[in-house]
Amino acid sequence: MFGKKYNDFLKMVVYQIYPRSFKDANGDGIGDLRGIIEKLDYLKELGINAIWICPCFKSPQADNGYDISDYCDIDPEFGNMEDIKELINEAHNRDIKVLMDLVANHTSSEHKWFKESKKSKNNPYSDYYYWYDEPQTDWQAMWGGSAWEYSNERNQYYLHHYDITMPDLNWDNPKVREEFNKIVDFWSNFGVDGFRCDVIHEISKDLKNNIMSMGPHIHEYINGLFGRPEVEHLFTVGECWVWNEESFCKLTKEERKELSTMFQFQHISFGRDGKYTPKPQSLTELRDILSHWQSVSYKNDLLYTLFTDNHDQPYFISRAGDTKNKRYELATCIATMFYTLRGIPFIYQGQEFGSLASEFDSIDDFRDIGAINYYNDYLEEFGKEKVLQQLNFGSRDNARHPVAWDGSEFNGFSDVEPWIPLSSNNKEINLKKDCESEKSIFKFYKSILKLRKENDEIVYGELKILSRPEDTYWVFERSYNGGKIVVCCNFEEENNIIIPYKNAKLLLSNNIDRKDASNNYSAYEVAIYRI
Ligand code: NOJ
Repeated sequence: MFGKKYNDFLKMVVYQIYPRSFKDANGDGIGDLRGIIEKLDYLKELGINAIWICPCFKSPQADNGYDISDYCDIDPEFGNMEDIKELINEAHNRDIKVLMDLVANHTSSEHKWFKESKKSKNNPYSDYYYWYDEPQTDWQAMWGGSAWEYSNERNQYYLHHYDITMPDLNWDNPKVREEFNKIVDFWSNFGVDGFRCDVIHEISKDLKNNIMSMGPHIHEYINGLFGRPEVEHLFTVGECWVWNEESFCKLTKEERKELSTMFQFQHISFGRDGKYTPKPQSLTELRDILSHWQSVSYKNDLLYTLFTDNHDQPYFISRAGDTKNKRYELATCIATMFYTLRGIPFIYQGQEFGSLASEFDSIDDFRDIGAINYYNDYLEEFGKEKVLQQLNFGSRDNARHPVAWDGSEFNGFSDVEPWIPLSSNNKEINLKKDCESEKSIFKFYKSILKLRKENDEIVYGELKILSRPEDTYWVFERSYNGGKIVVCCNFEEENNIIIPYKNAKLLLSNNIDRKDASNNYSAYEVAIYRI
């Protein structure tokens, strides 16, 4: 069973904000902290109680803020320290926790540590990064080319798993670990409630044995950072690309004081073969992945994250089914599958009203360093049309368009042309239009989050799956303190589903005509009952 800390975390519902694209308050076409403040009441209305803000620290913005040049200051594009203070206060006034994004694996090459480090082999910062006379491994960087870059100034190579302007920090150096203790303490004292931890499984490496992540000291370093008494109350969620149960347990079990939880990414490949090729799949396959990780979470007492979207993937529903005819049904079906399970829901901006991946006409419209490098690397091999098609299917920019608050000239995001084109489908898909519709995805999200809040069975309950693996639907129950909730999600065109209880009272459905537990379910129809 969970202790008090994890039981409290289970009540969280987190909303992820990509600040550049959320809301522009100062009219420069780039979203900012004051824009977030303006929307806190909206977020409260949605029913979330925590926000995770993607990096808003000082940065040259080569990777939209994941390249940080000062961890304890705000980038002027987003505002200043007073703005973040006000944002935290205003959020707390509304009982909304604030999570910041901690990027510990690398800095920007503009960070003072790196600028000093590259000057010579013997300066106070020389061992803050990985420097060698020759590349030590044949690792490739995430967005193309070798992960080793030569510096004329120092006459050596440094390691960068991401862009060349994002050198990897050497966590085996105790001084680096001390720096991050100070950063975490700084923001904790400032009032933040926790962190999303960028690729934190990469901070321990073993170059000699070709191990780029989950190296020999990973648990020691993470526990050393977050297990300290002064910060152990913080909520931390790791972006950990690890697949095995044992690592999940070690990284997140309550008594180990490493991370509170981590994102489990197995289902992120749903609907595609690699990053850029569609692969139609049935929601039953998504169900099976979810069901597997739920059982892992129950068996080992782990906090699980319930998410489909983030800023690194095109909107999930775009590759999950027929969004042309069934966008509402699909979005609400997936929301039901996830948010009635045990774990912490994470909702990515725009997801709550059914945003779809945006499509771009030309490479000039893309902003993501990964997309642009891919285009240049593969243009010759695949030709322009095919590469653009691939990018439109899989690039990170396809979830980074400005939030379409309404269908006006700049979608209520800004008064001027935004930094990245508006969503290509913004006239049909925007919050205002969604709310005016009888089939409003936003209203369904509100209802399901309210249901979660009001029914402890959904937050804490045991899970029992009632449907069989061969069924093309999913029925499960959640029981707690003598109460029972049954959730029913249909994946096929039509299904006859029998709820094995007589006294099922309907709490919520995405079919406005449904009044009770009658057996006929249409495609993607969901219903939640109290027994
Ligand atoms: C994962 C982040 O989510 C992504 O946006 C970023 O580019 C890399 N880590 C590098 O920080």
